[in-house]
Amino acid sequence: MYPIELSFTEAYLKEKLSADRAEHSRSVAKIAGELATLHGVDPEKARIAGLCHDLCRDWGNQKLLNYIKENNISVNEDILEEPMLAHGIVASEFLRRKLGIDDRDILDAIQSHTLGAPKMTKLQEIIFIADFVGSTKGLPKSGQVLEQAKESLGKATRMVYEMTYEYLKNKKIEINPEFASNMKACKQVLSTRK
Ligand SMILES: [Fe+2]
Ligand SMILES: [Fe+2]
Repeated sequence: MYPIELSFTEAYLKEKLSADRAEHSRSVAKIAGELATLHGVDPEKARIAGLCHDLCRDWGNQKLLNYIKENNISVNEDILEEPMLAHGIVASEFLRRKLGIDDRDILDAIQSHTLGAPKMTKLQEIIFIADFVGSTKGLPKSGQVLEQAKESLGKATRMVYEMTYEYLKNKKIEINPEFASNMKACKQVLSTRK
């Protein structure tokens, strides 16, 4: 269907990811599948995107940078200074070229899971949210985000942007401009819906 079987994806990831990363990915896939079912999105696509979203997260800056350059992947200048932020973009390209996944919904959702996007599809929002919830599982805030996501993907997406922004600010980590502008776009879209 997406020239890939879920069982094959799981087996492939087992081989490629550390045990912790594989566990996180399975958790994201489970949350994403449940949210997809609730919101009328194909749950299999959501599970595949969840399982594969961090496929290149452990590559390290140099390998990511090399892949971006060798494959002429277009990224913003500031990403080149912090290639780790491109692990979603690289995973999306890697899956397309290496595993033959050509489903744009899946690829877009993987691509935007770190920095968001100015306007996201339901599946993009689901993976963005599920990654946050699957990373902070056990914290009260992640429970709040998940509950909100069952009601409104848009509002939960805004919560993820805002909580991530606050976290980075408190840690005195520089906010990526693309992330900041995507957060602003998300808030604008939500304000016009009311
Ligand atoms: Fe990630
Ligand atoms: Fe992740």
